[in-house]
Amino acid sequence: MRTWNVLLHGGDYNPGQWLESPEILREDVSLMKQAGCNAFSVGIFDWERLEPEEGRYELDWLAGIIDRLYENGIYTILATPSGARPGWMAEKYPEVMRVNEYGQRDRFSGRHNHCYTSPVYREKVRMMNRALSERFGRHPGVLLWHISNEYGGECHCELCQAAFRAWLRARYGTLENLNRAYWSSFWSHSYASWDQITSPLARVGETAHHTLVLDWKRFVTDQTADFMRAEKEAIRAFSDLPVTTNMMGFYDGLNYGKFRDVCDVISWDNYPHWHNGDEALPARTAMTHDMMRGLKPDEPFLMMESSPSATNWVDVAKLRRPGMHMLASLQAVAHGSDSVLYFQWRKGRGGCEKFHGAVVGHDGTANTRVFRDVAAVGERLKALQGLVGSAFPARVAVVHDMENRWALEEMKGLRNIQHQKGYMEDVLAMYRPFFRAGVNVDVVDMEADFSRYSLVVAPMLYMLRAGAAEKLARFVEQGGTLVGTGWTGIVDENDLCFLGSVPGQGLDTVFGLTETEIDALYDGDRNSLSLTPENGLPFLRRSYEVRELCQLVETTTARTLGVYGSDFYAGTPALTVNTYGRGRAYFLACRTEQPFLDQFLGYLSRTLGLRCLDVDLPEGVSLNERRDADGRAYYFFQNFSDHPAEVTLPAPLSEAETGQPCEGALHLPAYGVKVLTER
Ligand code: GLA
Ligand code: ZN
Repeated sequence: MRTWNVLLHGGDYNPGQWLESPEILREDVSLMKQAGCNAFSVGIFDWERLEPEEGRYELDWLAGIIDRLYENGIYTILATPSGARPGWMAEKYPEVMRVNEYGQRDRFSGRHNHCYTSPVYREKVRMMNRALSERFGRHPGVLLWHISNEYGGECHCELCQAAFRAWLRARYGTLENLNRAYWSSFWSHSYASWDQITSPLARVGETAHHTLVLDWKRFVTDQTADFMRAEKEAIRAFSDLPVTTNMMGFYDGLNYGKFRDVCDVISWDNYPHWHNGDEALPARTAMTHDMMRGLKPDEPFLMMESSPSATNWVDVAKLRRPGMHMLASLQAVAHGSDSVLYFQWRKGRGGCEKFHGAVVGHDGTANTRVFRDVAAVGERLKALQGLVGSAFPARVAVVHDMENRWALEEMKGLRNIQHQKGYMEDVLAMYRPFFRAGVNVDVVDMEADFSRYSLVVAPMLYMLRAGAAEKLARFVEQGGTLVGTGWTGIVDENDLCFLGSVPGQGLDTVFGLTETEIDALYDGDRNSLSLTPENGLPFLRRSYEVRELCQLVETTTARTLGVYGSDFYAGTPALTVNTYGRGRAYFLACRTEQPFLDQFLGYLSRTLGLRCLDVDLPEGVSLNERRDADGRAYYFFQNFSDHPAEVTLPAPLSEAETGQPCEGALHLPAYGVKVLTER
């Protein structure tokens, strides 16, 4: 649902903080034009100015801002202010404030600390949103609704407890069903009445109910999505404009999959800690874009926030090196964003974000490195307008599933130290080979339609949500290639172990094996994956290092491609492939080193023809493709290394911005990015 016909450039604009300085507000607009900006999110934290006293709405100042922006060719992304409520509300209606897991209610302070259940809060938000919608919902300068801000957190108040119980009743029907799902005879923890159930509060003693914790997280997600739905309904009284909410990538407090339907447009806030020495960071950021877009893989998303310079809340607020701002901005576009938006436009004088990167600093001029970098992005976006609305064609899916992640993090077993079960690390490790090989990827959850992909890579699918196994089986049967790993198919949606052969729900047949025991290794322990010579895979080495987890398997119909090199399971299968229907299912039983994954998944990318272009990329360079409605491809070559790189183009292309022909060697400066199109 796209209402914009240009790539959006701008960001969070907080004129509410500057109402006493009309000259600054006037100056803003001329600076915005100089920076090549055309869209701003307005009103995100302005409730106290929009309703200074209960029931007295003051919207004229906001009308003035929106009008002025519009008259100057700048669109407004209009926010609902529910991310922070005014003092009068907290004082008069304490129930709007959140209660923490120790049972303490927050006072008027900070932001993002309201209860999502409170009928009072919901009613106040409804009235505010209605008022905003009535006044601005059809304003030609307004493009989109920015609902609230970074929904997150949870509330343990009595209202939320009651809502949780109602949610459980709807899910399980009877207490018997719930007790059965919770395996609650364990530690004598059966519930005899609904009132005995509480949220997982901070407790003394050991946690009995993994499923209760899982359900609480599901409830928090559903309650938050329901809150957003209510916000949207209020808007809908007067406005048909699309709504979005700014999400937070892999934030684990919510399952964003449940927001797919309530959001008309997906948007998110991107704050990578560039130059922090993490060599996986460019891929991690790419993966986060792909996960956010993966919520609606056929549509462009919006990068709603990013810092034009340093981010002030990170451990070390390092500046973006020359070139990095352009690269980070165009990386978002390369992955399907129709926008480059910043937090924020102008630095405030006070508060905890006064030193956060902003387009306009305290000097108030255009004469800064940051401003020039931003203006340069504005220029390039203008030259790339043909891209607006274009698709991100992906034939590979990497599965990251939040409910699976919650279940894995909650379970006790394998390795309980450090990075817990290593799920996120596995997802990233599986994603990185595609980043290196120049392959477009959708990162999706278990609710995805796998049939649209050629290759699905699904690490550690410990918990199989309803329908997931069947979908994966059908995908392989119909010719797809699946890559799974150890500790897959162990429990059902309620975290109850499958009895009998695992991976459960028929995945044992798909992979042609049974998982028997799983060995967890201490940090210093190593095993190896030794590739069998006759496996036909063109690997560089015979043997790769294995660490942390070794799943032991017994094959039924699968063929062994590699075996463990040592320990009592030396010589048993560590990498297998099974033909199932018209497709193939690979099973990587162990956690192995990145070079193996790079070669293995790089090999599958080449043989399945999944690369954007038939080209080998130097270290640090990645390539993505967007395709416009006429089928014209845009290739984004991105150099994340701090030295120049060269790519040999497989075919004559042209520079998208200038139309200049481009053949043979493509030179990319350090942190350089070039966009080429088909001739
Ligand atoms: C988040 C918020 C913004 C701002 C930025 C700072 O993304 O949505 O309001 O606090 O962080 O990085
Ligand atoms: Zn509450």
